[in-house]
Amino acid sequence: MFEKEIDFIKGLFSQKKEIALHEPCFIGNEKKYLEHCIDSGFVSSVGEFVYKFENKIKQITNSPFVVATNSGTSALHLALLAYDINEDNEVITQAISFVATANAIAYTGAKPIFLDVDKESLSLDPKALENFLKENTYQKDYKTFNKITHKHIKACVIMHTFGLAAKLKELIKICENYHLILIEDSAEALGSTYNNKALGTFGSCGILSFNGNKIVTGGCGGALLCHNEDIAKKAKHLSTTAKINHPYEYEHDLIAYNYRLCNINAALLLAQLENLEFFLKNKRELSILYKNFFKNNEFLTFIDETLDSKSNFWLNAVIFKDEDLRNIFIKECFENNIFVRPVWKSLASLKMYKDCQNDGLLYTKILEKTLVNLPSSVRL
Ligand SMILES: Cc1ncc(COP(=O)(O)O)c(C=O)c1O
Repeated sequence: MFEKEIDFIKGLFSQKKEIALHEPCFIGNEKKYLEHCIDSGFVSSVGEFVYKFENKIKQITNSPFVVATNSGTSALHLALLAYDINEDNEVITQAISFVATANAIAYTGAKPIFLDVDKESLSLDPKALENFLKENTYQKDYKTFNKITHKHIKACVIMHTFGLAAKLKELIKICENYHLILIEDSAEALGSTYNNKALGTFGSCGILSFNGNKIVTGGCGGALLCHNEDIAKKAKHLSTTAKINHPYEYEHDLIAYNYRLCNINAALLLAQLENLEFFLKNKRELSILYKNFFKNNEFLTFIDETLDSKSNFWLNAVIFKDEDLRNIFIKECFENNIFVRPVWKSLASLKMYKDCQNDGLLYTKILEKTLVNLPSSVRL
């Protein structure tokens, strides 16, 4: 049924035998920096590459403070801990995200509340957020409380889905009105902007991921972005087992974490970041090819960036008219070794989060059945 579409995708990737969803691309100084790192002996949590990496992320995002971490998940956990989010709190997030978004909230002891996403951004729907807060909360002493549990809803974690920007203007305003700390899970969005400003720099904190499937990778890795020096210091302290700086004494003042990025991963990352502009341009070209090809397609719609934002087009996405069409497309792609993917299952449907509050998740339920991510690797 989808011969035309499958031939097109094969053509985009030079008739490769297997077409992955997203492959890493090593075309720069990766081997050179790794060799240098190994020769130096500093492969672990201390070393020049970690600092160079943090500076490079500052330069790319314009974030005044950056803390390198060993994953996006750990960066998100640290962001929540740095704002003292704990078991007395609830945290609002979107139901469509990678499981790490909800897990990081749950690690703190706080309970997630799952709300719907909107059709354009596929990220937290500002209307869903406002409606939920209006109907289900009350305010006291500049804090928002859940009418059912009477717990303090302290933060809202939004996620920029597939590199597309969330509706930040509206979301920021609502969070301000309800005194919610806004945290951006920008794991997928390095290089994406909203009104020419980097995603991850709008909230109190933002995080990035450098897992192997992301636009640039260190094998693993993450970063916390923030504007507040004290928060950055606290996050860094928590990420380094809360060790007090001393030439030889082992003094720690908190139960903390080993979340610091290793120098060897930072070496790889630094080389990758040197090619970020090339990756962004290459991925934008691919997205334009998809967009033009799928224009007026009777079965599906390509999800494009909005006028006020620029996506990194980490993963291109299409939405089918119905579930049957979507399933046939996935089946035919797999038969042709094209490894497309459906979207994640709603986080609210996972067994560990089934008892969390949600808002009915109307559009989430549609997306679960109709969305497909297309192969989106950099093409050489
Ligand atoms: C939206 C989102 N949040 C968090 C993460 C977690 O990042 P990491 O795998 O680096 O822990 C990922 C991806 O891996 C992600 O896609």
